[in-house]
Amino acid sequence: MTNHSPLSADRSFLFVLGSSRADGNTEILARAAAEALPGGIPQRWIDLNTLPLPDFQDGRHEEGDWPVSEAERTLREATMEATDIVIASPLYWYTLSAQTKRYLDYWSGWLGVPGLDFKQRMAGRTLWAVAAMADDDEAVADGMATTLNNTAAYLRMRFGGVLLGNGSRPGQVRGDERALIRAKTYFESATPRARFPHEKQTGLAERAAETVGATA
Ligand SMILES: Cc1cc2nc3c(=O)[nH]c(=O)nc-3n(C[C@H](O)[C@H](O)[C@H](O)COP(=O)(O)O)c2cc1C
Repeated sequence: MTNHSPLSADRSFLFVLGSSRADGNTEILARAAAEALPGGIPQRWIDLNTLPLPDFQDGRHEEGDWPVSEAERTLREATMEATDIVIASPLYWYTLSAQTKRYLDYWSGWLGVPGLDFKQRMAGRTLWAVAAMADDDEAVADGMATTLNNTAAYLRMRFGGVLLGNGSRPGQVRGDERALIRAKTYFESATPRARFPHEKQTGLAERAAETVGATA
């Protein structure tokens, strides 16, 4: 099975907003996509600017407990409660915004929290992404897509790809008709288990070997 569509009632979506401004294009596009979600599916929206995390301190290989701030606790619980996590980050320097990247850095800390079982519990959940960008050439967002695909692959999550929209000034994405049309069905997209490039190659080689075996 490569996707979850139609979305079952037990799904719950966490939208993590990572722009540096309120009411920006990324949020507009994310809300357009969210409007198409069935009404019974819970949506939680967190703006990382209203729940600021300090820079991640890497204490993974040190003894003792690290203090957990209220913002971190809220984000950790929200992340672990959701079946679907939607990263809504503008394209900044061809990748994620700093706020969004910092949130993902905390995932590395959560991987090591005793008893949390973060990696096991994230496996099988779905990562989605929405991004506004000023450039007309969507290929320049490949870096962001690769980052998120590999993040999902590491955690054995599914990945729905990146919903891209074009705009620079706030609100401009409303003029990107193609993006708004794509938004309507984005959450119906196939969500295969994310694979690292080497896993895809291995899979292709295995399938090719099976085909040869079948005809031999
Ligand atoms: C720090 C910064 C870096 C940016 N880097 C890129 C970029 O690499 N490529 C691009 O197409 N647009 C880039 N932009 C433009 C934004 O992606 C664009 O304005 C987008 O609409 C912002 O989304 P928002 O309204 O949700 O904040 C950048 C903007 C800022 C502020």
